[in-house]
Amino acid sequence: MARRRLERSERVRVSELDAEGIGLADSGGFRLRIRGGLPGEDATVKVLRRRRNRLETLAEVIAHPHADRVTPPCPWTARCGGCVLQHLSPAAQRSTKRRRLETLLHEQGVAPPAIWLPDVVGPNAGYRHKARLGVRQVPGRDVMVGFREPASSRVADVEACRILAPALGERLTELKALLGSLTIADAVPQLEIACGDSDFAIILRHLKPLGDGDAERLIEFAVSSGGQIYLQSAGPDSVVRLWPEEGARRLQYTLPDFGLSFAFHPLDFVQVNPAINRQMVALALELLGPTAQDSVLDLFCGIGNFTLPMASRAGSVHGVEGSEALVARAQENLAANRAAVGTSRVTFTAADLYAEDFDVGQLPAADLLLLDPPRSGAENIARGIGKLAPRRAVYVSCHPATLARDARLFADAGYGLTAAGILDMFPHTAHVESIAVFEPRDPG
Ligand SMILES: C[S@@+](CC[C@H](N)C(=O)[O-])C[C@H]1O[C@@H](n2cnc3c(N)ncnc32)[C@H](O)[C@@H]1O
Repeated sequence: MARRRLERSERVRVSELDAEGIGLADSGGFRLRIRGGLPGEDATVKVLRRRRNRLETLAEVIAHPHADRVTPPCPWTARCGGCVLQHLSPAAQRSTKRRRLETLLHEQGVAPPAIWLPDVVGPNAGYRHKARLGVRQVPGRDVMVGFREPASSRVADVEACRILAPALGERLTELKALLGSLTIADAVPQLEIACGDSDFAIILRHLKPLGDGDAERLIEFAVSSGGQIYLQSAGPDSVVRLWPEEGARRLQYTLPDFGLSFAFHPLDFVQVNPAINRQMVALALELLGPTAQDSVLDLFCGIGNFTLPMASRAGSVHGVEGSEALVARAQENLAANRAAVGTSRVTFTAADLYAEDFDVGQLPAADLLLLDPPRSGAENIARGIGKLAPRRAVYVSCHPATLARDARLFADAGYGLTAAGILDMFPHTAHVESIAVFEPRDPG
């Protein structure tokens, strides 16, 4: 079809939401991706960027609003790409995510789960305890700190962030002033932030050595905000703590239902949303149902977030994780929580579960399996599930497409999907966290 210019006042009809939470429409030979548009709505759009026959656009005026459209709780949502679904009610966000998982399972030919679990829900604001924020110094203007602009690599100009933990989300203006006061403001491309239950750390990536007075300014901020400051001059190994000079080099979160406390380095993987994490761990345990007679295998175990709660119920738990540093942290957490874990046998090993030559047969036999892989999923494990032959597997997923692919492999090996559900780990964004239970169809 011949392409023509899209008139600014032209209305287009949004047909559906894509996997990234962006509305889709076709007009004048272009595929339009419409930020802020919902299915069935008519919108006039502002073009943000053109890529061949695709236009990245922002909905400006909406007609026939969707029944679940709400006023975005964040006033900066139009200029910030951090959240894409602020204009859709949280309940509708969750049903959109559940439908997405349903569709992906269907496309893989996987029979729907016998039970759809109730959504696991937490706070819609102040939930995000880990994030990487961009930093940009614009000559003659304030330094900007935040997520990127929609469809752009430029840092969004926002004064606060509603989804970040308040200790940081409400301090963005202070952070901008701090960074603007540094002699190396033009050489700070990003910050990593990590929060525990009552502490937080900022890792400042800097491309030049600190200049006169910079360390003092950073320390002053750390003292007044109660946070810790780390510096990163090159790769992850270059990270050093600037403040406090002494004291425990860990942040902490707890799982009060299990009497467990986890210590972690700000660069370690931890679940982003602590309220959902607490419920997710309890749910995974309930679904897996270990008893004192059972051995459990916890793959992609990180710092032991599921391993230690499992150990409080199971006879033994073996955690496998790719990062040696995280295995060391899991061991530290085991030692610090021995009383809460009880007498079960708990072991950890480091292994690359994605290695081409990795054979599932190398894993110890277990009655029950828990998997919590990164976005790329657990194809290796799913392909080899017959060798492990667990009585039940609980799969926690942060990417529904790989979960659906792996569900197909489980099905091919004779495992049915007995339950599945959505965890609202990332409200207002398009990320879908889900949980699925697999059991042998013929437990023979
Ligand atoms: C979604 S996180 C889950 C961590 C942990 N279960 C938790 O709840 O905190 C995925 C984990 O997989 C680990 N991982 C990434 N690639 C891996 C690999 N090739 N082999 C084994 N583990 C890997 C990451 O280091 C991370 O700890």
